[in-house]
Amino acid sequence: MVLDNHLLRDLTVTEKEQWDEKVKQIAAQHSLRQVFHIEAPIGFLGDPNGFSFFQGEWYLFHQWIPRKTKKKMVYWRGLTSKDLVHWKSLPMTIDPDTKFDSHGAYSGSAWVNQGQLEIFYTGNVRNQENEREAYQIRATMDENGIKKETTPAIMQPPAGYTMNFRDPKVWQYAGKTYAIIGTQTKDKAGRAIIYEASTDLKTWQVKEVLQPFDHDLGYMWECPNFFELDGSQVLIFCPQGTTQKDLEYHTLFPNAFVIGPKWSGDGSEWELKQPKLALVDEGFECYASQIVQAAGRTIIISWMGPSKTPLPTEEFGWSGCLSLPRELSIKDGKLYQKPIQELTSLFGTAQIIDVEHSPSFQASSASQFKVAFKGNGQVLWNIRAEKDNPGLVIKVDLKNQILEVDRQAVFPQVAEGKDGRDTQRRLHFELTDGILELEIWIDHTSFEIFVNQGRSVLSGRLFTTETAQNCNFKVDGNVTVTGEWHEIVK
Ligand code: FRU
Repeated sequence: MVLDNHLLRDLTVTEKEQWDEKVKQIAAQHSLRQVFHIEAPIGFLGDPNGFSFFQGEWYLFHQWIPRKTKKKMVYWRGLTSKDLVHWKSLPMTIDPDTKFDSHGAYSGSAWVNQGQLEIFYTGNVRNQENEREAYQIRATMDENGIKKETTPAIMQPPAGYTMNFRDPKVWQYAGKTYAIIGTQTKDKAGRAIIYEASTDLKTWQVKEVLQPFDHDLGYMWECPNFFELDGSQVLIFCPQGTTQKDLEYHTLFPNAFVIGPKWSGDGSEWELKQPKLALVDEGFECYASQIVQAAGRTIIISWMGPSKTPLPTEEFGWSGCLSLPRELSIKDGKLYQKPIQELTSLFGTAQIIDVEHSPSFQASSASQFKVAFKGNGQVLWNIRAEKDNPGLVIKVDLKNQILEVDRQAVFPQVAEGKDGRDTQRRLHFELTDGILELEIWIDHTSFEIFVNQGRSVLSGRLFTTETAQNCNFKVDGNVTVTGEWHEIVK
């Protein structure tokens, strides 16, 4: 069954709801449906939005196109959770239904203010000439739903910037409220603008512009986050159009970060001093990350997208997923990401990995592996393999401290005719006390690899058969491999 909006357009509301129900049921039972990654029940899932902690619960929204798997007319769909692991759908959505967001309720954020959940997002509009207009809209949420302000808080970008002006991320600092917004200069250079809000949140003034210190980084910045962490300031953003010079793996859709000194908010400009950017995730799909700071924690979640290749689930009525929520920290000037501790509540019984006696075994297609490698040889590790398919191939070279990940066999659709950018990664790692530790989370259609306690992360989608459950280790030379794995049950 292929979802086709053209066919749906002429249906009545009841017929559309019946259709949704049918699609939802097919999707829910599908073998490609994931166990512990957030997916939409139906339709296209995009950027995480409005990640916040309100009245003792986590709130998380995402870009959503209910009846189409291609990105176009976006809504916000919401979820809530007490533990960041078990999520319930919220009945309220943000629909693109006013003259200020008629062509999409684009990305934005949420925060708690005076007992309410405040929301700030971009209303995307195409005017009669099909030109883009961008409005920054405030809304509030309570148990009755989401109420939009009738007039946008920011009607247009400042002079010198194009209508590519979106994705406000709000934070509070020293009693004041700020928003950072991704944008583009009229000369087509990416920037992020910081606004300061009046106490009633009605007026927003430009405070400063974040820009690179020597050369431009791409032509447009999307989805910025600007926050203090462990005594430093971090900017996470999506610079579109960067080159190999700025980012080692020039992914089509980079999601990068820079770490700098604490932002003072006193008007002295914060510069992107780093000559080279680093990727939040060195894998294949990770975009539009959003962070939340609450309950003494900083947690990041990302969209495991976008992809130029249609995802195999699209024909069954849904596509896209979010990454695991990951706890962020900075140690020795380096950014670390670890899967949130609450996820261990999903673990089945621990199973010891005994490579010497059982180098091959069956592991569920939703599993977590934690493995330590010591020595100076090489190990080839296949996960989700089956007889004619090597699965996800991980190569550990301890002597040269190189990790290679190859997903060609488990996502052949991206491999066809491509240059390897979408199928292979190679990264250098440091040994800790002579040991490399890999923590790998596999779900039905995704993987997340945490290297050395989250010092690097590589994640991506994979699409293989339900029966691909072999896990094999092949050791070459002097290496001891120890570890355990857990089935993940929800
Ligand atoms: C990033 C993005 C945002 C925008 C949203 C629209 O993926 O392009 O900049 O707000 O998606 O869905």
